[in-house]
Amino acid sequence: MTHTSGEVVETMTVEESPETVAQVLQHALVGEDLPDSFTLLGQEWSLHRGVFPSTLSAATEVLASMVPYPKGGSLLEVGCGTGVISVTAALEGCASVTALDINEKAVANTAANIERHGVGDRVRVLHSDMYEALEPTDRFDAIFWNVPWTYVEDGFPLSTDLHSAVFDPGYQGQSRYIAGAHAHLTDGGRLLIGTADLGDRARLDSIAEKAGMRVDMLDRVRRIEEVRVMEYHLLELHAK
Ligand SMILES: C[S@@+](CC[C@H](N)C(=O)[O-])C[C@H]1O[C@@H](n2cnc3c(N)ncnc32)[C@H](O)[C@@H]1O
Repeated sequence: MTHTSGEVVETMTVEESPETVAQVLQHALVGEDLPDSFTLLGQEWSLHRGVFPSTLSAATEVLASMVPYPKGGSLLEVGCGTGVISVTAALEGCASVTALDINEKAVANTAANIERHGVGDRVRVLHSDMYEALEPTDRFDAIFWNVPWTYVEDGFPLSTDLHSAVFDPGYQGQSRYIAGAHAHLTDGGRLLIGTADLGDRARLDSIAEKAGMRVDMLDRVRRIEEVRVMEYHLLELHAK
């Protein structure tokens, strides 16, 4: 793992075709032989069919290690998938964690991992499209999303649950994430995004700008993956 945090490095956006990403998905979906558990961060985790496998890339492992968990405080994880990051947050000392996902299978998968790791007293999971299932009064010390970073045009069909885990048509998901966060952050609460150099950073910056925010690079980690070097980014949004 190479941390390049602190260096002044030009932020690079690499294009990846939707077809390439769909092929990777197809690979993850063909799966009579797909295992029903995986090892990550030195722990065993349950994996349900139709949920973004947290070992498809190094993203979940890397980001789970990068997020500045509000120890003793509260975290909201949007798009919890298998629940690795939410459960890790509780194991790392968050007093309360709310995990949510638009994919019902991910909600069930996260519930299984909450039980598996005995953190049900401080982690709850909700089926929710973005912030919809939250109470208007729910506030968190940090909100985090390991986003579907692949930009595709608005109207691109999200034909399986896994498509919504990697594609964000028109970056509408990330727009709603940023626009709606303020209502659910405590004073001084932190808004975080986990993404990679395959994400469209210029587009993200422009979305933030429209919401009156700027995006800062908090940390970056490079990993050699199957066919290329991937760089993962932890970003933080601040009022301008
Ligand atoms: C890249 S995956 C990350 C999964 C998991 N957090 C991890 O790190 O392994 C993105 C997740 O966001 C979820 N998602 C996409 N759109 C969403 C929305 N509008 N509301 C809630 N979750 C959403 C997907 O279902 C998927 O589980």
